[in-house]
Amino acid sequence: MVVETVKEGKIMKVLITGSGGMLGSALCDVLSGSNYKIIGLDVKKPSAKRRFNNFIRCDITNYNKLLKAVKGSGPDLIIHTAAFTDVDGCESDPGRAESVNSLGARYIAETALEANSRLIYISTDFVFDGQKKESYRENDEPHPINIYGRSKLDGERYVKEIAGKNHLIIRSSWIFGMGGKNFVDTILNKAKTQKELRVVSDQFGSPTYAADLADAIKRILDILKDRIDISGIYHITNSDNCSWYKLAQRSLRFANIYDIDLIPITSQELDRPAERPMISILDNARFVKLLGRPMRPWEKALEEYIRLRRQRRKKDV
Ligand SMILES: NC(=O)c1ccc[n+]([C@@H]2O[C@H](COP(=O)([O-])OP(=O)(O)OC[C@H]3O[C@@H](n4cnc5c(N)ncnc54)[C@H](OP(=O)(O)O)[C@@H]3O)[C@@H](O)[C@H]2O)c1
Repeated sequence: MVVETVKEGKIMKVLITGSGGMLGSALCDVLSGSNYKIIGLDVKKPSAKRRFNNFIRCDITNYNKLLKAVKGSGPDLIIHTAAFTDVDGCESDPGRAESVNSLGARYIAETALEANSRLIYISTDFVFDGQKKESYRENDEPHPINIYGRSKLDGERYVKEIAGKNHLIIRSSWIFGMGGKNFVDTILNKAKTQKELRVVSDQFGSPTYAADLADAIKRILDILKDRIDISGIYHITNSDNCSWYKLAQRSLRFANIYDIDLIPITSQELDRPAERPMISILDNARFVKLLGRPMRPWEKALEEYIRLRRQRRKKDV
């Protein structure tokens, strides 16, 4: 997606890949409410509900098409959210994971370099193995334990290597929000047909509302307009942390669903194709130092998301 903002008479353009996804669409919403003009880039057409003045349909693994799209729009900044985000899917299709998440990031970095654009690459807590007993800082050594994490880490490495100082890597975690497949929606949808839900209680992370993350990125963009010395990795999540079990419990409570038997289970019992990190809480201190305050607690964000989701559904009926 390309976003344009007026900077003292100069138009600043921002291209956002994956504009049809959960974070990409939240970025569209946040940026379109301000001085930004938006153009989306995604592999699939935007839904009828989401209108773009400018939209580029492009597969990021097609280098020539991508280069044409990026050069044609000439962005000052690219926010790269597009990815193959199905963690278990990556395990069964490592070729696609490598092609979209690693090679795709490399192509984005190369085209950003060609177009002289700054680059923000969205990465994940899954670059860590989850063995650290406290939260992960940006300079902790990554050690992914599944294909998705490895492919995203390779993407980070390409971005660092190719974009030099002209990049930011933003790692986030456990994202929920409108317009994408996510854990909260899965729990609420399953609750419609099942009376018993079994949820993992021994993995911990920080749930993050896509709208809050998009807002944090917008605030960083505002700073980037005036400063060129911001680069490297930032961990950005909602405050506080929990297990998937607690996230399910709170989701049901905020949705006023009480007739469900929620059963805590271990990761071993669930036995999913991709191994998950046990504790992948990200330390946000660097982000807090940059923006002066942390993101709100995930529970507050979740409550708001479930309220808005309910309103949106009522409107759609
Ligand atoms: N979701 C999380 O919990 C989470 C946590 C930490 C970090 N992240 C990172 O945050 C970013 C955004 O995640 P998200 O959950 O918003 O993802 P998402 O909802 O899956 O959106 C990704 C978008 O990228 C598109 N896309 C996939 N392959 C593409 C390609 N080859 N060319 C162009 N577009 C392509 C997808 O289209 P299709 O839907 O048609 O494939 C989708 O519209 C990702 O980089 C992800 O790795 C996510």
